[in-house]
Amino acid sequence: MSTDPAKEGAKTDFTDQMDYGDYLDLERVLDAQHLRSGDHNEMLFIIQHQTSELWMKLMLHELRAARGAIATDDLSPAFKMLARVSRIMEQLVHSWDVLSTLTPPEYSKMRPYLGSSSGFQSWQYREVEFLLGNKNAAMLKPHAHRPELTVYLKDAFESPSLYDEALRLLARRGFVLDRCERDWSEPYAFSEQVEAAWLCVYRDPDRYWALYELAEELIDLEDAFRQWRFRHVTTVERIIGFKRGTGGTGGVSYLRKMLDVVLFPELWKVRTDL
Ligand code: HEM
Repeated sequence: MSTDPAKEGAKTDFTDQMDYGDYLDLERVLDAQHLRSGDHNEMLFIIQHQTSELWMKLMLHELRAARGAIATDDLSPAFKMLARVSRIMEQLVHSWDVLSTLTPPEYSKMRPYLGSSSGFQSWQYREVEFLLGNKNAAMLKPHAHRPELTVYLKDAFESPSLYDEALRLLARRGFVLDRCERDWSEPYAFSEQVEAAWLCVYRDPDRYWALYELAEELIDLEDAFRQWRFRHVTTVERIIGFKRGTGGTGGVSYLRKMLDVVLFPELWKVRTDL
């Protein structure tokens, strides 16, 4: 016997009211997949990228708010937001399992239609990196043809990162640090003072519980980010081998270099000291 949801009280007349699709603007979202090659597998390729961009949008929303909360000593909400960002990153790590069902011959069919477009030009990804402290002015260049986007990205590039705000918090809690005022657009350089401060925190968690929790949230986040980078390069090698990327780099050789990026260096180093 089939169920009639209306008898269960489900609303079924939306003539004059907002429904699910209206609220989520689904027509626009679901009308944004334009297959250029016409190949069956291109749908996977497009949706994989688009969903990653949507998750990155949420990640940025949370990261900006977490940075703001740390700057105003509002740590409980910051922890909650950072935990969410790590879970999003893990979600993105798992999503490589779907893309890895794409085989080399399947990718080759759509490759001619991609032109020079590449995730390398993802401005949201660049903003995530800037917010997490990986500052590299060269990464602004692919966006120079879009001045409004460059202004937006430059703001993230020139602002303190999440880690910069964490270090300013350490200073407000009494640690003497040499990294609290600097040109925020410069890449972050390892500091022994910062290492010593984190060492104090890790040696006495009960005394510095909030800072200890913050440090672990940051490590969680970088751990998940490292896994994302690793799964990306492995998936890429599986699909295109050592061919050049559509964005023009050496491909796997470039992505392997990115595995060496360290976002929160003292938090990793401190583990050897303990
Ligand atoms: C078949 C699938 C994919 C291949 C073959 C691929 C390949 C590559 C290659 C070769 C690069 C280096 C730049 C270049 O020369 O193009 C790159 C960069 C990048 N890709 Fe992918 N990718 C794939 C899927 C994805 C997906 C699903 C995302 C999610 C958004 C993504 C995001 C990125 C990002 C953000 C970069 C820049 C990394 C950095 O500069 O550190 N890629 N990709």
